[in-house]
Amino acid sequence: MKIIEFNGVDHVFPDGTKPLQNISLSIEEGTLHFIVGPSGSGKTTLLNLLLGLYQPAVGEIWVNKCNICVLSERQLTLYRQHLGAIFQQNNLIPHRTVFENVAMPLWLRGTERKEVHQSVVSVLSEVGLRGFEDVLPLHLSSGDQQRVAIARALITRPRIIVADEPTGNLDRQLAGSVTEILKLQTTLRVTVIMVSHDEELTRYADTTSRLAPAPNALGTSTLT
Ligand SMILES: Nc1ncnc2c1ncn2[C@@H]1O[C@H](COP(=O)(O)OP(=O)(O)OP(=O)(O)O)[C@@H](O)[C@H]1O
Ligand SMILES: [Mg+2]
Repeated sequence: MKIIEFNGVDHVFPDGTKPLQNISLSIEEGTLHFIVGPSGSGKTTLLNLLLGLYQPAVGEIWVNKCNICVLSERQLTLYRQHLGAIFQQNNLIPHRTVFENVAMPLWLRGTERKEVHQSVVSVLSEVGLRGFEDVLPLHLSSGDQQRVAIARALITRPRIIVADEPTGNLDRQLAGSVTEILKLQTTLRVTVIMVSHDEELTRYADTTSRLAPAPNALGTSTLT
């Protein structure tokens, strides 16, 4: 099933900047889709459109058979709760332990204590950080901090994960291992959209979209 579709999308910023023109792409459920392209080509803009943070000037964006461009602000807030987001900066709370950082989204939802504990233990195992519950992020390597950020994004079990250069601050080996963790999620039918500068990482991708610098052409290639 196609879970994400962009149909002829243009985005225009209020100052007239038009980073994306006539973008069409479709992403199959349970796959890892890469967006690559040079700085300024519109990768983050594309993710922000998918997150419903921007409205396209032209075109439609369909997620799970729903046109997100017609949703109200309230509906968009609900929609975003079904997405997980990871960024280049891990945005962890430094004075909170790994457990507390990962548990935070469930605490905010009022999830019962025992269930929070079970979920955190399970998700930390998935990212290879079981046993690090009481450690402060500060005492972890940057690769492990990013694993914590991934665990925090996975804890609510979103069906779609949006990752904006999650490996941007990591060396190539760590970048590969972080990408592998995200790839593993596809075996659970999670769909992952990942932005990267690094062509090398596209070997993990099921499909890849390449954004060109101006005049803004998008080519989508199916690698496997
Ligand atoms: N709020 C904004 N208002 C006006 N122009 C913007 C805004 N945000 C981004 N842009 C411009 O839109 C273009 C695309 O920006 P975007 O951040 O999507 O690129 P990117 O591919 O993510 O780049 P990077 O690899 O550096 O993160 C750039 O020219 C940028 O300067
Ligand atoms: Mg960007």
